[in-house]
Amino acid sequence: MNLMVIGGGGREHAIIKKLRENPAVETVYALPGNGGIAADATCVDIGAKDIPAIVDFAVSHSVDFAVVAPDDPLVLGAVDALTAAGVPCFGPDRRAAVIEGSKAFSKDLMRRYGIPTARYETFTDMDAALRYLETARLPIVIKADGLALGKGVMIARDLPEARRAVRAMMAERIFGESGACVVIEEFLTGPEVSVLAFTDGNTLVPMVSSMDHKRARDGDEGPNTGGMGTIAPNPYYTEELARRCMEEIFLPTMRAMNSENRTFRGCLYFGLMLTPDGPKVIEYNCRFGDPETQVVLPLLETDLLTILQAVANGTLADVDVRFRGGAACCVVVASEGYPGRYETGYPITLPETDADTALDIAGARLEDGALVTSGGRVLGAVARAETLPAAVERAYALAAQVRFENAYYRRDIGRRALEVE
Ligand code: AMP
Ligand code: GLY
Repeated sequence: MNLMVIGGGGREHAIIKKLRENPAVETVYALPGNGGIAADATCVDIGAKDIPAIVDFAVSHSVDFAVVAPDDPLVLGAVDALTAAGVPCFGPDRRAAVIEGSKAFSKDLMRRYGIPTARYETFTDMDAALRYLETARLPIVIKADGLALGKGVMIARDLPEARRAVRAMMAERIFGESGACVVIEEFLTGPEVSVLAFTDGNTLVPMVSSMDHKRARDGDEGPNTGGMGTIAPNPYYTEELARRCMEEIFLPTMRAMNSENRTFRGCLYFGLMLTPDGPKVIEYNCRFGDPETQVVLPLLETDLLTILQAVANGTLADVDVRFRGGAACCVVVASEGYPGRYETGYPITLPETDADTALDIAGARLEDGALVTSGGRVLGAVARAETLPAAVERAYALAAQVRFENAYYRRDIGRRALEVE
């Protein structure tokens, strides 16, 4: 079989390696992939948003199955275009991907179907938004409606800060057109949990839970990033909570999308906050999380390709999706300065890995056959073990052996989880 994976980050590297475990897989094309992915797939220099080129490539290279991993191509309709060209693929179509593509849509969906989330108002008029702030409770959360690389969320502690955030998004358009519409919502507190779920619109199977570490610095300080590390499972997420989320959030969301004639087939990501009033949805993503995928897939026992094909075919109910016990940890090794300015082009030396460890490369390219840094998040050092403390220790031992100039990683990935355990 020839597979094609759209995307080029650590998440895609983890997906590709997992897909390769199926002996029927011959060739895996990564569009565009990256210098590290090149060790496990044939990288093709086609951008993840270049949908016509993606479709042409799939057709001309007899791709049997495609996986669209990032948000942009999903929201732009990559799955619709591939399907129209007769290429079977995994991922929601454009109508369903709007659950991530528009926060105004997803908030409205939750309100109409009674799915627990933060109270909110939506604004397309800046003056109305500024007036609303006068009476709102602080702190308050201001979100750009559309995709903003996971950075379109600002938490304001006081009124001047809130006003600045609204103006920055709506007038200065710091997140581009995403700021034409903003959602202003209640500030919630509690531990965060990420739950990815496979769904074909009839069946929904949650994967093992995880915990992201979004801030750049230790102790959850510093700016928000795309994610500096993850652990799975998330110890805050008890079996009781899992049952409750299934009934109050996951299945109602799947059914709501069906009722809206936007059946979601793919990986639905629930970003949850466990508030004193119960679990609430912070955000939906229409795809695998990054770097959640890097800790969830190592714990998946069932063949990934079988699951993804069943989701695409609407036969997920026939697959026994199983996870092994134990835990996993991913420590993201970044370029010092990320998510702000950073330098690239430094040679990378990688340690050996074994059956329980992995290096998922995100921001690296090949230069004369040697791997050099090319991005903010350079790679994830991943380890799986019987217990969370052992997984954390092994992931850190691996991260410590990764060498490149200006390498930076948080020292406390998993610390809070270990305290709960
Ligand atoms: P998002 O891009 O929606 O995942 O938001 C990024 C981060 O902002 C989340 O992971 C939370 O830590 C925080 N956040 C978002 N919405 C809220 C909220 N309503 N209350 C408190 N924190 C929030
Ligand atoms: N780790 C958060 C995300 O993938 O959006």
